[in-house]
Amino acid sequence: MVISDPAKDLRTLLASRRGLIVAAGRDEARLTSMIRLVAGPLRLPIWSWTVAAGLAVSGGRGQPGTTDPAQALAFVSDSNQPGVYVFLDAKPLLDDPVAVRLARELGQRQVPGRTVILTGVGDQVPTDLQPDGVLFRPRPPDRAEIDEMLSRTLAGLQSSGMAIRLDPAQRAELVTSLAGLTLVDAERLVIEYTVSDGLLGAGDLQAIRRAKAELLAVDSPLELIATDVTMANVGGLDHLKAWLVERGRGFEPAARQFGLPMPRGVLLTGVPGTGKSLVAKAIAASWGMALVALDTGRIHGSLVGESEQRMRAALDAVEVMAPVVLWVDEIEKGFRAGGDNDGGVSSRVLGVLLNWLQERPDGIFVVATSNDVSALPPELTRRGRIDEVFFVDLPTPVERTAVVTAHLSARGWDPRAFDVAAVVASTEGYSGAELEAIVVGALYAAYAANSPLTTNFLLTEAHEMVPLSVLRAEDIDALRSWARGRAVRA
Ligand SMILES: Nc1ncnc2c1ncn2[C@@H]1O[C@H](COP(=O)(O)OP(=O)(O)OP(=O)(O)O)[C@@H](O)[C@H]1O
Ligand SMILES: [Mg+2]
Repeated sequence: MVISDPAKDLRTLLASRRGLIVAAGRDEARLTSMIRLVAGPLRLPIWSWTVAAGLAVSGGRGQPGTTDPAQALAFVSDSNQPGVYVFLDAKPLLDDPVAVRLARELGQRQVPGRTVILTGVGDQVPTDLQPDGVLFRPRPPDRAEIDEMLSRTLAGLQSSGMAIRLDPAQRAELVTSLAGLTLVDAERLVIEYTVSDGLLGAGDLQAIRRAKAELLAVDSPLELIATDVTMANVGGLDHLKAWLVERGRGFEPAARQFGLPMPRGVLLTGVPGTGKSLVAKAIAASWGMALVALDTGRIHGSLVGESEQRMRAALDAVEVMAPVVLWVDEIEKGFRAGGDNDGGVSSRVLGVLLNWLQERPDGIFVVATSNDVSALPPELTRRGRIDEVFFVDLPTPVERTAVVTAHLSARGWDPRAFDVAAVVASTEGYSGAELEAIVVGALYAAYAANSPLTTNFLLTEAHEMVPLSVLRAEDIDALRSWARGRAVRA
């Protein structure tokens, strides 16, 4: 049984005479204040237990001999008094069979107004306490709570000499940026970014968003990608670039009033080494959003039944990171893993992802890339899940010029000093990755020969390379014919 919502749900739980509640989450301070909020009006005394101090009624003295969890629970059980008994960091309780038994009995024997709440035992009801414990999962703090914390914290910072320079819109943006964190973590971030330079201003907002994404990605199949790749690093793909510029404007507030829906995402498929992953990175940078990668491979391989839960938890985390670009590289990988021999785990995980892609809130732009579209379920590309499917083909001569030029410049060589046209003419069928390899290979050869880089070194590299489009001609032909009519040329 799972119930989620702030104090309201806790009130319901207490009123429904649940004897044993397991509180998920790590925000002990917030939980304690929620309990005070709910128990106060009901005139229920609040007891708390810690392994260090034992059991004590709030404002009163400790109960001797109750640091041992079994003793403490026996005390609760014998006293038959109404009250809320909060066991903070109750892990030690689980190691003691007597304590476990007593806790279960407290869950079964319902004395009106008596509730035991366990914290710090994880985000599920521990197996040993099922089915007598009920889970209370506090929702992350809402805007009002964050706003209240912010007023308090900013006032404190100001009175110790820090400058706060946020207009109302920026302050509202800060509240959004902190959503999804515990109040403790949110407050810590605000203090950290203010104290570092004595000032909290517009410049800190993006850094705070990033720091939040980092906190949320811990222990999950998500990875926050720091990248300095921009669209200028991507040669060619002009159609895709133009589409992205147009879509990107859909995130502007004015676009809402105009009636535009928020951009949802894009699937990039195509020939290996043509810049799909590169573009995924560049999108985030050009829109000033955080980039988070979801590694579907890391979802699998965990314990049975855990996969779907891990996927769900990861997607929950992504939601509170918004606005964010979610990058699912080689998305087909996740759906092939395990094949038919994994008891249907892959297809259930897939179901979770597909469902989420449909239902997810605005502000999450999904960039999925795929080399093997035949492995993808057709429903993935349904409208509403993503906006467009692009096929990234081998570069045209004009695109090859842009790619070669970009890679020469990136390494400090002026492209005008080379016969780029000659290189382009001898690299028909080469991918962007192969063109990069030619530039790098030529640099090595020139350096070894104690010579500056010349066009000849580039041409030699090009002649020696057999491109994938030759080595795997059939595969690439198959890809291309799939793309015809199904995808837009990038
Ligand atoms: N259009 C391009 N412009 C500039 N560089 C490119 C381009 N395409 C590929 N490259 C170079 O090749 C490298 C590999 O490309 P990338 O990883 O983006 O290819 P991909 O399409 O994702 O390949 P795969 O299908 O194998 O995942 C890039 O890091 C970049 O240096
Ligand atoms: Mg790639």
